[in-house]
Amino acid sequence: MAKLWAGVTDGATNSLADDFNSSIAFDSRMFKQDIEGSMAHASMLAKQGIITKEEAAMLTDGLAGILDDLTSGKLSFDMTAEDIHMFVESTLTERIGEVGKKLHTARSRNDQVALDLRLYLREEVTTVIGLVKEVMRALLSQAEDNRDAIMPGYTHLQRAQPIVFAHHLLAYCAMLKRDCERLTDAARRMNASPIGCCALAGTTYDTDRRYEASLLGFDSVMGNSLDGVSDRDFALEILSAFAILMMHLSRLSEEVILWASWEFKFISLSKDFTTGSSIMPQKKNPDMAELIRGKTGRVYGDLMALLTTLKGLPLAYNKDMQEDKEAIFDALDTVKLCLSVAAPMLSSMEANRDNMKRAAQKGFINATDLADYLVKKGLAFRTAYKISGTLVANCIETNRVLEEIPLEEYRAACDLIDDDIYEEIALETCVNKRISEGGTGKASVESQIAAMKEFLK
Ligand code: ARG
Repeated sequence: MAKLWAGVTDGATNSLADDFNSSIAFDSRMFKQDIEGSMAHASMLAKQGIITKEEAAMLTDGLAGILDDLTSGKLSFDMTAEDIHMFVESTLTERIGEVGKKLHTARSRNDQVALDLRLYLREEVTTVIGLVKEVMRALLSQAEDNRDAIMPGYTHLQRAQPIVFAHHLLAYCAMLKRDCERLTDAARRMNASPIGCCALAGTTYDTDRRYEASLLGFDSVMGNSLDGVSDRDFALEILSAFAILMMHLSRLSEEVILWASWEFKFISLSKDFTTGSSIMPQKKNPDMAELIRGKTGRVYGDLMALLTTLKGLPLAYNKDMQEDKEAIFDALDTVKLCLSVAAPMLSSMEANRDNMKRAAQKGFINATDLADYLVKKGLAFRTAYKISGTLVANCIETNRVLEEIPLEEYRAACDLIDDDIYEEIALETCVNKRISEGGTGKASVESQIAAMKEFLK
């Protein structure tokens, strides 16, 4: 494709340089946004009398034709075009003649590319939020089915205190809810239009940037033209939100992998979302969860890549900035893929409640409750802690659990203990006594479920 920028030179560059410089291989995915932006630009130019209404109509019709033909596959991208902007403009001029050359009045590819990327990401962020909500729905329905499935809660991966499985799953819902909010917030800040900043300094034409921005659904216009063309904070914010989201999915995947192991056996993954081994017939491998955990690294890498690309750039546009797209698109594709797999993987897993309960029965996870019982009977917590600890040590030695200690032995350790102790240290009691707001007790779990339902409505 002939170079539209052939000015001071004849545009005949080395073919290696052409290939190196070209971005159409990855920015062609913004064709719809590029055309949408150009249509708005033509309308604004006409409204301001910079081109005639007839010229604007020709430009718009020509652009609509290109959009249709690209969508239907009748027209394919010319890989020798430098980028999507050049491709659309050249094709337009090929199709409608001289008037096509008027489209690029009062703009530059520098503001154009910033515009396209904002428009593209605005749409994609909405899609991603929808996918996050699907994962939340899967977790929520598992939580509803497992409201009273007792399992050990852990710290340091050591059994700590009993909780219900629903409470554990709702913790991930809370994390994912923040991810939705972070993305919404980033999208809101991104919704300012850079178009009309032109190459870097604005333009001598009497343009109406606000009109053009409103045609494209922006809330405002970027207030400084240098910033307008060189800002990629919006991409960084979205990448950061993606990195945090992937960190959450990765932690969840790690737990799914552990829970699905023979050592835990807290869940069974559906055969639809596991794989076998080519040599070990007994294997049911949690590959999907492992890949989600594995792909988290590349999203972090994408964030680091863009931060590093931008850190030394003088204002305003520099070609380095073309590197933004591969990073953000890779992260976007990865996040969407992981979310799409996570939702059905989670909704089809089955909780093995008996195994969870059995694990909760071992490990003295009611030792805190025994101490709390003594505190309620009047002891200081540290004293109570010591008595509970001594009883646990004794049980370990004699291979028993706290529930198996006879009352006389309890009373010998502390005469404040009565036979209501057994009820007090029963796992169900331990869970349901956690009545503080946000705890694992019944009322709290129910209100968390209700709040998530409300959010997902
Ligand atoms: N392909 C370029 C990019 O993605 C578009 C902007 C080019 N501007 C320029 N002055 N060379 O960043």
